[in-house]
Amino acid sequence: MAIVGEKGLITADRAEAFRKIVGDMHILMDEETLRHYGHDETEHLCYLPEIVLKPRTAEEISAIMRICNQYRIPVTPRGAGTGLSGGALPQLGGVLISTERMSSILEIDERNGQVTTEPGVITEVLQDAVKERGLFYPPDPSSRGSCFIGGNIAENSGGPKAVKYGVVKDYVLNLQVVLPTGEIIWTGANVLKNSTGYNLTQLVVGSEGTLGIVTKIVLKLLPLPKYDLLMLVPFRSLERAGEAVSAIFRAGFMPSALELVEIDALRIASRHVDSVLPIHDGIEAHLIIEVDGNHPESLQGEMEAIAGLLEEYGAGEDILFADDAVQKAELWKVRRRVAEAVKIDGYTIEEDTVVPRAALPALIRGVKELGRSYGFHAVCYGHAGDGNLHIRIKKEGSANSQDDPAMVESLRALFVLVKELGGTISGEHGIGLVQKGYMDIMFGEVHLELMRRIKRVFDPNNILNAGKIFDQK
Ligand code: LAC
Ligand code: ZN
Repeated sequence: MAIVGEKGLITADRAEAFRKIVGDMHILMDEETLRHYGHDETEHLCYLPEIVLKPRTAEEISAIMRICNQYRIPVTPRGAGTGLSGGALPQLGGVLISTERMSSILEIDERNGQVTTEPGVITEVLQDAVKERGLFYPPDPSSRGSCFIGGNIAENSGGPKAVKYGVVKDYVLNLQVVLPTGEIIWTGANVLKNSTGYNLTQLVVGSEGTLGIVTKIVLKLLPLPKYDLLMLVPFRSLERAGEAVSAIFRAGFMPSALELVEIDALRIASRHVDSVLPIHDGIEAHLIIEVDGNHPESLQGEMEAIAGLLEEYGAGEDILFADDAVQKAELWKVRRRVAEAVKIDGYTIEEDTVVPRAALPALIRGVKELGRSYGFHAVCYGHAGDGNLHIRIKKEGSANSQDDPAMVESLRALFVLVKELGGTISGEHGIGLVQKGYMDIMFGEVHLELMRRIKRVFDPNNILNAGKIFDQK
């Protein structure tokens, strides 16, 4: 689906002004480029911007924002375009600002365990750079090989390691931000504790590019754990696999990853990457469990104790202990490619539900029941240790979540269930464009109006990523 935004906002004079700011090479208006920047990874949605700008500095972005604010031109900020809620879709046309040229790691401060980076650095590149110095930046979204750290800040991303190490917000100390009105601020300080006024750093994290454009990022780092062990545990029942998740923590273990993958998703992803991982008959789901630390013997003991515990929850005997680097890499590759693989297989609609982890079995049961009542097929996978279940949906005739009223109704029923279970509708992908119609399930009018007012304070003319998360009144 391609929709062209409002035309005519980028007059020749304005385009010339943008050209002077970013230079000839970094202003693009050709059809192919607009089409490329018109979509992210969300369903098959595509909305064309009028112009794509690729600035190099905060000062350039500031100059662009001043023009857009003066003439009320919609601006959509974009990282690598790997988002799943439509946060980078320029559905209003206008200017698209790509941060792809802002791709330098500025400083790794080993003495303080911090890194200062620009937003267009690929997350895995950042992780590898600090790893070389014995340091660890844990948040590891599945797309870490292609997503940008700036996009991770915008969405407050998570990933498998969040269960032990937390999500992006737990690592952000300070942000340089260009406001929609063009001013440039630093939100905090490069310190580990900060009780100095309102926490604007954490307000910007997860604000989905609606409050400002992040141009420099200071992150806290940890010492790198020296060892990890990984296993793939089969379960004959999906629900029992869900029950086992909270039992692991109740027994006193703290895995560094605890992922659940339903069998259909694992099969599809394995085919997609030509994996030779053994998948046995009669299995409904697997848990992928990782432990990490500095003492290999105690990790081995932990893994065995967890495996023993899981027998009580109907785990199959064919546990795969992936203890060499090649097998570990293969297992993670399959896990990380699930989203992409199932989308290609027709599961185009993606939800990012999260419930208290003990409610996972009820959520899984509910998803299957809703599928039967509404005629869709769902596969579940995700960060079970966090109670964060990605639900991928396939339904004949409904390629996206927006156009089919029956699909909208079934998603509403799903989110009402999530709310009843004490959960929420996005754990790490954000609300963006495709979930905003369900915000009323989570929040009353007072709450929503507070958010709208915060947006107005930052962006009085509602030009920056407008219409994401909620509509301004
Ligand atoms: C994952 C991404 C899609 O968990 O969040 O694979
Ligand atoms: Zn995920």
